[in-house]
Amino acid sequence: MLPETAPFPAEQIATLNRIISGTSAEQRTWLSGFLAGFQAANAPQPTGAAPPARRAPLTILFATESGNAEALADTARKAAGKLGFAARVLDMADTTPAQVAGVQNVLVIASTWGEGDPPQRAIDFHAALMADDAPRLDGVRYAVLALGDRAYAKFCETGRLFDERFAALGATRVAERIECDLDYEAPAGAWIDATLGTLQAELGEPEAGAVIHVDFARSPAEVAAWSRSRPFEAEVTEHIRLSGSRSTSDTWHVELSLEGAGIAYEPGDSLGFVPMNDSALVDAVLDATGLADNEPLRARLLEQFDITTLTGSEPRPDGWQVIDVLEAARQPLTEAQLLARLRPLAPRYYSIASSRKAIGDQAHLLVAAVRHEAHGRARSGVASVDVAERRKVGDRLKVFLKPNTHFRLPNDPERPVIMIGPGTGVAPFRAFMQERDAVGARGRNWLVFGHRNYTHDFLYQLDWQDLLKRGVLTRLDVAFSRDQPEKRYVQHTLWDARRELHAWVQDGAAIYVCGDANAMAKDVHTTLQQILGEAALDALRREGRYLRDVY
Ligand SMILES: Cc1cc2nc3c(=O)[nH]c(=O)nc-3n(C[C@H](O)[C@H](O)[C@H](O)COP(=O)(O)OP(=O)(O)OC[C@H]3O[C@@H](n4cnc5c(N)ncnc54)[C@H](O)[C@@H]3O)c2cc1C
Ligand SMILES: Cc1cc2nc3c(=O)[nH]c(=O)nc-3n(C[C@H](O)[C@H](O)[C@H](O)COP(=O)(O)O)c2cc1C
Repeated sequence: MLPETAPFPAEQIATLNRIISGTSAEQRTWLSGFLAGFQAANAPQPTGAAPPARRAPLTILFATESGNAEALADTARKAAGKLGFAARVLDMADTTPAQVAGVQNVLVIASTWGEGDPPQRAIDFHAALMADDAPRLDGVRYAVLALGDRAYAKFCETGRLFDERFAALGATRVAERIECDLDYEAPAGAWIDATLGTLQAELGEPEAGAVIHVDFARSPAEVAAWSRSRPFEAEVTEHIRLSGSRSTSDTWHVELSLEGAGIAYEPGDSLGFVPMNDSALVDAVLDATGLADNEPLRARLLEQFDITTLTGSEPRPDGWQVIDVLEAARQPLTEAQLLARLRPLAPRYYSIASSRKAIGDQAHLLVAAVRHEAHGRARSGVASVDVAERRKVGDRLKVFLKPNTHFRLPNDPERPVIMIGPGTGVAPFRAFMQERDAVGARGRNWLVFGHRNYTHDFLYQLDWQDLLKRGVLTRLDVAFSRDQPEKRYVQHTLWDARRELHAWVQDGAAIYVCGDANAMAKDVHTTLQQILGEAALDALRREGRYLRDVY
């Protein structure tokens, strides 16, 4: 709270205190960063400011799976550079805790995956840090920025554990940890600026001119880049249901024109898609809260808010969504009360199933409509059903590039690859094969695909057959789970082919896994451990020859 001595009239102090008392920790962090930046941006520019005498070292250590923490690390590095820090960025995948011991200033930026797990590329660092023989971190000054998703029970678990462990090992926390939900950009940016300001003040090195510099002005390259807040509107040029009419799943091939967008994607990248909510669900939410005649609110709920995920402290029987809580309460709400319960609508990501070298300024996506029933109500995945049911050729999808530099074809075109991609997990491998075909890469390619029924669910069957015929695809194994009495999955296929798999790995093959994280990736991992041995699989992961993109 502002003290009475704050440089404001008493009336304004009361108003500000009223506002501040109603804010969350996250909002206060954002506000402090915003005000600091505002001040810096409006301060008179120093003329001939002396260069800093000594540049304080700063290490930005990130743990990422899908690149968000990595991108934030880069943002932090740029902000720190402007403040005069000598900043470097380290990926936990390439770092040991021993390398952190003795480092003065560390910003840790870490996401959480699985069910409260560290990103897979950070598991060695995480394990070493948690081990009994972890090095002491006395003298290390640090702060943690955690990324997560409030829909998960263990929200921001990895960041929380890193924060606690750094402190337990003797490091000094210089700023409270921030835990960011999917709409992390603004709070994370403000936290970075505020934390750098704190670090700098503590180091007693205020530079001439602005103490904190928030970079509101973006470079031309960044302005040209499409993002979740500024997506490209890509025209749908094909919209084809790949699942057969009698299939129990509903999977769509979508072609988008990227003409004029300058989106230079690589095989392995995804597109972010900014969806729209189901208008029937929006109406149900408005009805349940007595806000049915509020048209402007209806428009905002359609496009801006997550109207399914429960993220607050309301009671949450398994499978409940926002509408269940609202209908159970049947309580009129004001617009502000309703919006306070909803988080911003997050984009969804879809692996790009094509190579620009093969198809030019387009991108292909493979989207499986997510539908299930819970508590007597049919539920539809926001984005996937938006694409499958409500979009058609000629419509526009709001998209932006989500690069994945950790899921790339080998640099060596001769290196064999083994691609394990059941269901929509096959999408990036279509991009891989188009790319290898287009550049004439001679390495052998083995695809392991799986789904429910051969007749109805063999996604991109003609593509694979053509690639096989032309010798681009060396080997194709399939597992259709429902075509025989006992369930058969890709891991069973791998086990049956274990001798050949061994031989391919001996020949230098890289193994890729894409698709379902909950069951498939774990079962495949266990089977690969059984075939190759745990240590050998770990060694492949460290060499960048066992890569996963699972969701
Ligand atoms: C890097 C990456 C790449 C991806 N690539 C692809 C791709 O190529 N193709 C593709 O189709 N998807 C892909 N996905 C997944 C995609 O981003 C979406 O998560 C998916 O389409 C579901 O989004 P939605 O908005 O339709 O569903 P949402 O509205 O987000 O609903 C999904 C949620 O519903 C709940 N749910 C779903 N089924 C059930 C059930 N049976 N019982 C109880 N609860 C259930 C779960 O909580 C689930 O998280 C990818 C994800 C990532 C992170
Ligand atoms: C399959 C999957 C599992 C996830 N599990 C968790 C979780 O257990 N807890 C959490 O807070 N966030 C979880 N998340 C959300 C991520 O942490 C969040 O998307 C984050 O921004 C990713 O950052 P990164 O790109 O740096 O890895 C999960 C996301 C996915 C796709």
